[in-house]
Amino acid sequence: MGTKLIVLAIVSTLLAYYVYIPLPEAVDERLKLMLVDACFRSLEHLAELTELVGFKHYMEMMMVLTVAESVAPSSDENVNVTDTTFNKVPVRVYEPSGHRPGLKRAVIFMHGGGWCLGSSKMQPYDLLSRRSATELNAVIVSVEYRLAPEHHFPDQFNDVYTVVKYFLQRDVLVQYLVDPGRVAVSGDSAGGNLAAAVAQQIQEDPEVHAEIKIQALIYPALQTIDFNTPSYQQNENMPILPKTLMVRFWSEYFSCDKLLLKNMMANSHATLESRGLSNFANWSIHLPEEFRKDYRYALPDRENVDSSVRIPGVFDPRAAPLLVEDEKLKALPQAYIATCEYDVLRDDGTMYAMRLKKAGVQVTHVHYEDSFHGAFMFITWPTDFAIGQKMVSHYIDWLRKNL
Ligand SMILES: *[C@@H]1O[C@H](CO)[C@@H](O)[C@H](O)[C@H]1NC(C)=O
Ligand SMILES: *[C@@H]1O[C@H](CO)[C@@H](O)[C@H](O)[C@H]1NC(C)=O
Repeated sequence: MGTKLIVLAIVSTLLAYYVYIPLPEAVDERLKLMLVDACFRSLEHLAELTELVGFKHYMEMMMVLTVAESVAPSSDENVNVTDTTFNKVPVRVYEPSGHRPGLKRAVIFMHGGGWCLGSSKMQPYDLLSRRSATELNAVIVSVEYRLAPEHHFPDQFNDVYTVVKYFLQRDVLVQYLVDPGRVAVSGDSAGGNLAAAVAQQIQEDPEVHAEIKIQALIYPALQTIDFNTPSYQQNENMPILPKTLMVRFWSEYFSCDKLLLKNMMANSHATLESRGLSNFANWSIHLPEEFRKDYRYALPDRENVDSSVRIPGVFDPRAAPLLVEDEKLKALPQAYIATCEYDVLRDDGTMYAMRLKKAGVQVTHVHYEDSFHGAFMFITWPTDFAIGQKMVSHYIDWLRKNL
């Protein structure tokens, strides 16, 4: 009896210690977030373990969540949902039912998950697409692009690009009753990265005649120069995307090479090529004072770069859309950019918003002082957060007014 009590006491102390992480006062529903974070961390530890013993790649283990949350395409009285392919790339298409007159809007949506995880079929994304289709009277194309570690850059980008290009064809827009002047690309996290990259590349494609009207980027990842921006430092251990996981996502996007991961973690992955690009992500120039705080700008000395490890693509603008000249930003579509204070990617989105504005692009930058990475998809039970609902509602309202 006594032993049992002692064991119980030890287990609950360990558990409490494991679950408890200090969270900022500004964040609501902290206990719930701690529990969600503890679940994520457990899965991450399990994934590390299975990888260590050589049983499965880390990301394969992490994929269980994606699979567990997957839902079948089911139509209802508001939306007609179909799984199909656009030029061989799988997509899930949501068409508003009913006979509303006139042409519809369209949103091509890219889910998040660090180019390694996630799916258009996950319940929160499915719900988001249904809500968007119904409330915006829009056709939603949710792209099921290929993922790392099986597929690396530029496969993810190419899949998304293929879908956008396919959809922008005149006859396809006619088939879906979509107004060619009211098409948006949108995505969260890695999906925001893909949406931003597509918006840049498609404007240079002579074969594309229709335009993208809006790019909506929800806490996007946009640059590979510096994994030590003030937000990376401030939010290193914030749920649900600690710096270690974000950097792992980046390195897996390009390669399974552990040396790349190691160098990226140390922020010493620079090459001769990246030296010329570092100003595009120089946060001492492109961040507002209140984000820079007392952090010191200290990019490793670019003269001493070890260019023996050259992984193609790391500084390619299709992977890191922040790393382009101002000239390339000028003609970009109107942007909606959401960032969260408690997110390693806060500064990526903020720098892009600042640079786009300077280049003369119309930008709505919504910064959530009380939110964290991932909140946008925390909209389904049991991981529903009021802040997630608020972010989604604001996004849809904004699209209603601007798309
Ligand atoms: C749903 O959409 C598909 C593909 O566009 C179409 O073939 C089908 O007739 C639609 N179903 C309904 C009930 O509108
Ligand atoms: C970043 O900008 C600051 C301020 O203009 C400048 O002193 C620094 O050299 C820049 N760093 C890089 C790597 O471009």
